[in-house]
Amino acid sequence: MTGSEWWRTAVIYQIYPRSFADANGDGMGDLAGITGHLPDLQELGIDAIWLSPMYTSPQRDAGYDVADYCDVDPLFGTLEDFDVLQRTAHSLGIRVIVDLVPNHSSSDHPWFQAALAAGAGSAERAHYIFRDGQGVTGELPPNNWQSVFGGNAWTRVAEPDGTPGQWYLHLFDSTQPDFDWDNPWVREQFRDVLRFWLDRGVDGFRVDVAHGMIKAAGLPDYTPPVAGGSMGGGTATLEPDISAEPAAMPPYWAQDGVHDIYRDWRIILDEYPGQRILAAEAWVDPLTRVAEWVRPDEMHQAFNFAYLETPWRAPALRRVIDDSLAAFGAVGAPSTWVLSNHDVVRHASRLALSGDNLQGHGIGPNTVGLPDAVVGLRRARAATALMLALPGSSYLYQGEELGLPEVVDLPDHAREDPTWFRTGGERYGRDGCRVPIPWEAAAPSYGFGPSEKSWLPQPAEWAHLARDLQEGVPGSTLELYKLALRLRRAHSLALGGVEWLEGFGDEVVAFRNGDVRVFANTGTSPVELPDGELLLASETLAGRILPGDTTAWLRA
Ligand code: NOJ
Repeated sequence: MTGSEWWRTAVIYQIYPRSFADANGDGMGDLAGITGHLPDLQELGIDAIWLSPMYTSPQRDAGYDVADYCDVDPLFGTLEDFDVLQRTAHSLGIRVIVDLVPNHSSSDHPWFQAALAAGAGSAERAHYIFRDGQGVTGELPPNNWQSVFGGNAWTRVAEPDGTPGQWYLHLFDSTQPDFDWDNPWVREQFRDVLRFWLDRGVDGFRVDVAHGMIKAAGLPDYTPPVAGGSMGGGTATLEPDISAEPAAMPPYWAQDGVHDIYRDWRIILDEYPGQRILAAEAWVDPLTRVAEWVRPDEMHQAFNFAYLETPWRAPALRRVIDDSLAAFGAVGAPSTWVLSNHDVVRHASRLALSGDNLQGHGIGPNTVGLPDAVVGLRRARAATALMLALPGSSYLYQGEELGLPEVVDLPDHAREDPTWFRTGGERYGRDGCRVPIPWEAAAPSYGFGPSEKSWLPQPAEWAHLARDLQEGVPGSTLELYKLALRLRRAHSLALGGVEWLEGFGDEVVAFRNGDVRVFANTGTSPVELPDGELLLASETLAGRILPGDTTAWLRA
């Protein structure tokens, strides 16, 4: 029975260690801070946590630039702190997934430092993607690829004798050189990394840039259809055409060879007891292509970014839900659902943006069409209530259970996202969704830590959103999440299906899942609900009327 596989139905809560909880008061979240708050997560009702990277790193991309894959950065604690965290989580019935960053390392990694020192043509250089430049003296980059964070995807190095030399590829920041995954040595190192964490007891890995590790032979030039880049190659907008024919993929995304890597990893994971999982961060479309990552002998889950990118409009939502269930179902995998993470504008803001906003660009003071906070929160609550009624596995991002919006007015000097620097401030980047979260309204740093310090400044309005003010308060966003998670479990919604209900108008997403009927009104006109016991509503209802931007669950 597939329902016995925990990951098919799990609600997985993403912890961004820098911003979750700071135990030592240095303004940076840490592992001990996470451990201390695990009981709160148990009470929330989640099944697993996914930790964004806590490995040794110079933090040029907030830890997605790893300098030692098998150790914890002192900023966050020690390996022993990780063990305590994991033991505590397991004792509370919470599984632990860690992030794996195999597309690139930090330029501080000893492997890359050795590659620089060894010079052109060496075995060490062959661990990464070094090439001679074009032009008379090699002064031009090897091809025209652009970094996802803006600017050129190649950086030229000085050779050991000091002369200008080869170029190395970095699809992200210049401090994140891409590995050459055609090199068996690289594959062997990562098998060891997997085993290191599996031996330590982790329940799985979220695999960073799982669509990017293999590059097309010859590294051909590529010009994206939309200027700039995003995690998915520069095509993501607020109104994606989810029915579009598969676009031609850039020569650095979704190359067939990536799947051999995951088949290899799957064999390793299956050697371990306890259903360890792989979850793909693969920004590709359409969903039928994403489903290739979760064929039976590959990964277990893939993030459903098509769902995340769908606007708050019933026709588009119905279509992406159908497409998701069909695409993942066709390969025997559960669909996943996600609305927020550390790379996108928080959905309490995103769903009320009135301008186009490319994924990864972020929002800031000069963004056109900034969201109305009240509308945004209302839509976010309705959208979450819809998502948590869908069959499959859902991802939550820390702070969304408090209704946190994107922070729009961060001072420029506080920003850390390389996107901001590499585009000369043209793209705000992702700092606005990474601000440390508020636990206690009246405490310094709103209870993020014991001191006033917080690595990104927290807005004053967040006092009202602090967890302690929402705890036990009927109708608060926190209590809405708890109720939805409790009912989701009690009614086995994650194991169910979607049977569309007709007759509620074009702007209402209406379906039956087992013994629950779900109605999400994405329009502005109120709709009358049918008879039946009200189990949950994202807003207080007057009688049987479901207003706009509201979701309700009724007993079937
Ligand atoms: C995707 C991660 O989620 C993002 O935060 C990171 O910057 C890039 N991959 C590069 O590792």
